[in-house]
Amino acid sequence: MSQESWTPDSWRSLKADQQPDWPSDGSLESALKTLSSVPPLVFAGEARDLTAALGRVADGRAFLLQAGDCAESFDAFSADSIRERLRVILQMAVVLTYSSGVPAVKVGRIAGQFAKPRSANTETIDGVELPSFRGHIVNDSSFSAEARKPDPHRLIDAYNQSASTLNLLRAFTKGGFADLDRVHKWNKEFVASSKQGQRYEKLADEIDRALQFMRATGVDPAGVPALHEVDFYTSHEALILGYEEALTRKDSLTGDYYDCSAHLVWIGERTRGLEDAHMEFTRGISNPVGCKVGPTIGTDEIVELCETLNPDRIPGRLTLISRMGADKVGDHLRPLLRAVADAGHPVVWACDPMHGNTFTSTSGRKTRHFESILDEIRGFFAAHAAEGTWPGGVHVELTGDDVTECLGGAEELLDDDLGLRYETICDPRLNARQSLELAFRVAELLSQD
Ligand code: PEP
Ligand code: CO
Repeated sequence: MSQESWTPDSWRSLKADQQPDWPSDGSLESALKTLSSVPPLVFAGEARDLTAALGRVADGRAFLLQAGDCAESFDAFSADSIRERLRVILQMAVVLTYSSGVPAVKVGRIAGQFAKPRSANTETIDGVELPSFRGHIVNDSSFSAEARKPDPHRLIDAYNQSASTLNLLRAFTKGGFADLDRVHKWNKEFVASSKQGQRYEKLADEIDRALQFMRATGVDPAGVPALHEVDFYTSHEALILGYEEALTRKDSLTGDYYDCSAHLVWIGERTRGLEDAHMEFTRGISNPVGCKVGPTIGTDEIVELCETLNPDRIPGRLTLISRMGADKVGDHLRPLLRAVADAGHPVVWACDPMHGNTFTSTSGRKTRHFESILDEIRGFFAAHAAEGTWPGGVHVELTGDDVTECLGGAEELLDDDLGLRYETICDPRLNARQSLELAFRVAELLSQD
């Protein structure tokens, strides 16, 4: 694959896995045509700012917190749900930063995280076989032939929902909601009453006192924008390549191409073949990009992947998101860390402790255990400590709501509890209490590092 021959559509001649079986009546082409002329969701300059921020992560001066939904939903779309997800991410970031002294780069799995890779093309229930649910950008999760038919108009609905989500996120993060003066208000009632909620209250009290101290010494916090606003970036898996291509624009300032559907996009574990379409598309855009890496990747392959996605070795350009599983991270990660470091590639290493630890519980629900999630994170930190590399960040699936989708945590959710509020349309997410608890545990690991 040579850099010179890249165009936004050069992926089309290659094998593209996980693409929907779109209708051939021209509706796909018409939706993509519309998308190729709509305004971009993000600007190239913002994507460059994120590369710079991730560059600081790559050299050990910051920590990446990438978090949000497994799959955003067209149905559960509301200002409240966006605010609650942002609130828990801000809480986690404050815990990480305050407890470890390391700044947190905040990236949401939000405002575009609609497409899902599936392990099977079809799903069979009671002898009826239908196409799998592939995320609301493609079809609907309910089990009927009509709902499961890929509908190209959903591409435009996904763009529109991303635009209004991002609009609200920008308002919240720059317009007062993220002000450190409001640090207590990020603690929601059902969280505040829990042990980790109370721990958070204490930390928020300390931040209040620090702000008071600043005022008393004559430093006016009002004049320090960093205390009142946060930089919050968006990301999703670049799975549906037609959609990503249609939102790719040439930056007038640099002449480079940016995928303007999000600040950062990543390649999933199932579509990272070096000669495949997703790799081809992603290598040519100038955004910061990510790639999931699971236990089957080898040391030569990971170095080649780095060469393909970041030939110029720009710090912050490439984030490798390790998702090994708690039982495998101990053996598999260290050789990969060493190979990438020996090859001189400046990557961000992030730990996705979710996707390698999913199983079906006895009650028949897809779930994850909080302890396995923590175990994988511990293994990730241990591998980095042993190799002398920087455990750059975590990548988690969460919601701000009081759901019961993952087992364990301080509230000790059991299999029987999963049915209470199991609301995800795809993978099980940490609830707000579990997310906050995770942030405290990661902060402890970071402070030891
Ligand atoms: C995901 O992040 O939702 C996902 C499908 O992950 P992976 O590609 O690592 O399986
Ligand atoms: Co998921």
